[in-house]
Amino acid sequence: MKIGLFDSGLGGLLILKAVTSKLPWYDYEYYGDTQHLPYGDKTEAEIYRLTKQGIQHLFERDCVLIIIACNTASAETLRRLQDEFLPEYYPHRRILGVIVPVVEEVIDSACKKVLLFATKRTVSSGKYHLELGKRNEIDTKIESIATPKVVPLIEEGKIGEAVSHIATHIDKKLATGERIDGVILGCTHYVLLADALQERFGSTFSIFSQHRIIPNKLDTYLQRHPEIEARLTRQGRRNIFLTEHRSDYDRYIATLLEGHFVASN
Ligand code: DGL
Repeated sequence: MKIGLFDSGLGGLLILKAVTSKLPWYDYEYYGDTQHLPYGDKTEAEIYRLTKQGIQHLFERDCVLIIIACNTASAETLRRLQDEFLPEYYPHRRILGVIVPVVEEVIDSACKKVLLFATKRTVSSGKYHLELGKRNEIDTKIESIATPKVVPLIEEGKIGEAVSHIATHIDKKLATGERIDGVILGCTHYVLLADALQERFGSTFSIFSQHRIIPNKLDTYLQRHPEIEARLTRQGRRNIFLTEHRSDYDRYIATLLEGHFVASN
C-alpha cells in the first residue's frame, strides 16, 4: 500500500519532493485538485466536499496513510474527516494534516512571537491558534496575516513579487520595533519562497517551512505506528494525478521535481 498526498493543486508537490527525498523507498500517490484551485477563497462546505473526493480517490488507489498537504484543507476538513469519514468507511487507514506538525515545531523552538502567513480560509479557521492553545506551555503568540495575492503570483511564476509581498509585511512590523521570533509559511505554495526569505532576513527570525518539517514528522509517525508502516510497499513508485491536466504543467512538474516524476491521469 502507498502513502498519499493531497493538495488543492501543484504546491503539494514540493512536500512530495521533500518527503520522497527523506523516505525514497515507499510508494507514493499524489492528488492535485488543479481543476478547483484555489481553495483559499472557497466555503468550508465546498472545501470539505472537494477534499473528501480527493481522499476517496487516494484510498481507492490503495493508500493506507494520507497527508493533507494543503493547509486550507487541513484547517477546514481534517478533524471532520478523522471523526466522521474514517471510522465509517476506512477505520484501518489514517489521515494526517500539516498544521499540527508545524505547531509542534514552533513550540519546540521556544519562539515567543510568530507571524503566520496563509490563505484567507486558513487564517479565518483559527486552526493554528487552536492547536497551539491545546499544547502551548510557553505562551507563544501567533499573529495571522492573510495573503490571498501570493498564491496567484506564484502560480504565474512571479516568485520575486510573491517574496516582496510577504517581506513588505515583515518589514513594516520590524520598522515599528515589533518582536518577531518566527515566521510560519502556512501554505504549500510558500515553500518556494522559503530560501529567498531566509536570504533576505538572515537569522532575524526562524522560518517554519513545511518542506523541512513534514518529512521528519512523517518518519517519526511511521516509527511510532509500525502497524501502518508494515502495510507500506517499498518499490519507490510515484504517481501524480491531477483533476485537470494542462500541457504546461508537465514542464512545471519536471522543473519542480527535477524530472523524476511523470504526471499520469
Ligand atoms: N494549497 C493551499 C494551502 O496550502 C493554497 C492554495 C489554495 O488556495 O488552494 O493553503
